[in-house]
Amino acid sequence: MTEPLTDSLTLLSDRLGDPTEEVYARLFRTHPDLEPLFSMDTDGGVRGSMLSQAFDCLMDLAEGPGRLAETVIRAERENHDTYDVPAGMFEVFFDIIRDVTKEAAGADWTPAMETAWTAVLAKADAFAAQQPVKA
Ligand code: HEM
Repeated sequence: MTEPLTDSLTLLSDRLGDPTEEVYARLFRTHPDLEPLFSMDTDGGVRGSMLSQAFDCLMDLAEGPGRLAETVIRAERENHDTYDVPAGMFEVFFDIIRDVTKEAAGADWTPAMETAWTAVLAKADAFAAQQPVKA
């Protein structure tokens, strides 16, 4: 076991395999207005690569200074304005990833995982809101 957030993602993939379906099912259940935005994504390729970028950002923030995550999240948030993705939705997406991970971890979810996720999501959310973040 190494870094707690990354450890929790290992548990997620061990238990759920590919979590893509679960993540988007939750997103569209809580925010049905977002589903039509993916109508062109007939083979799920966009959904898959979006989620994989989000995982990369979360691990980058957990394991180091998070400069890659900062660049990607700030740039993608601007790009997503052109896809009509409303403000606040990156925060929702990251929360859903945490919730799916926590549920998959079940009794193996630790206080260190909770702490790591809280710290990482605070930074990710600040980047998504285009706010400055101290190291
Ligand atoms: C609820 C939150 C989000 C929604 C509703 C959303 C929606 C979308 C949509 C509709 C597209 C397709 C755009 C098009 O090609 O016309 C897209 C693409 C993409 N999104 Fe998101 N997005 C969200 C969050 C994120 C986050 C948090 C990240 C990364 C940190 C991200 C990264 C990407 C990337 C990299 C693509 C391009 C994927 C590809 O074409 O292979 N998105 N997003």
